[in-house]
Amino acid sequence: MNFGALGWGKTNRLAQMFKPNQDGEYHTVMLAVDHPYFYGPTEGLIDPRKTIRPIVPYADAISPAKGTLEYCLDPFVTTPVILRVTGGNSLTRRDELSNEHIITSVDEAVRLNAIGVSVSVYIDSDHQTQTIKNLGTLANQASKYGLLVLGITAVGATLEQRIKGEGAGDDTFDAARYFAHAGRIIQENGADIVKTYYCDNFEQVREGIQVPIVIAGGKKIPEQEALEFTYNAISAGANGVDMGRNIFQAEAPAEMIQAVKSIVHEGKTPDEAMVIYDELKQGTP
Ligand code: 5RP
Repeated sequence: MNFGALGWGKTNRLAQMFKPNQDGEYHTVMLAVDHPYFYGPTEGLIDPRKTIRPIVPYADAISPAKGTLEYCLDPFVTTPVILRVTGGNSLTRRDELSNEHIITSVDEAVRLNAIGVSVSVYIDSDHQTQTIKNLGTLANQASKYGLLVLGITAVGATLEQRIKGEGAGDDTFDAARYFAHAGRIIQENGADIVKTYYCDNFEQVREGIQVPIVIAGGKKIPEQEALEFTYNAISAGANGVDMGRNIFQAEAPAEMIQAVKSIVHEGKTPDEAMVIYDELKQGTP
């Protein structure tokens, strides 16, 4: 992974969340818990003090919004924080999901001891320009403090329908082309890390993006399938995951994050990781 272009502060913050494996490759397992900023109290995050606190220590980094961080998470846990700072939308207005603004300032992120901020960018939406500008503004401010910027390839309601396998689906939609296009624009406008979705031909996405890539989990699917796309993403060059629902909505969230880590950091196959998951659940590793 190329840490070279960054200054000492950003490099040190990246090193807090990306861990080297035996081959000297850097990977991360981030736990995404930012959903309530536009979902409200969603399953698994209704009271994060009960559901998320116990699994935070397993994560290499967490990505909450400010409300969950300040009121629900333990400040004595040293897991690095990438703070969600854009919002202004709500699932009650699905057609307006892309209308995001900067809600939380970089100064607030510094006060909360975050190592970075996350921002959604909605390419090919009504608010494409506005959300790219959010990213650029935050990147300029964050660089003053050496904070990392995680740029999220956000899929609003319309696009979600077009992605194969989501909603009604659309066989003519070329997901790899879209995610390569969106991810590179996110890199060029200031992101130090690009968050995107796994798709067929993911190598095309990887080839056009030089910063570290982390994969979102998406809607809850069976544990075996989530482990399979994690494995496929890492094999195709992703540097890790920023996974939410497929961890905190799993039957056993603490065991699931450990199974995901076994793939990302130890190179286990999905079947091996599933055995680890089952054994941890039974208390017989
Ligand atoms: C929206 C987001 C989500 O809030 C979240 O981080 C995604 O996590 P998952 O899909 O794994 O539940 O990034 O753009």
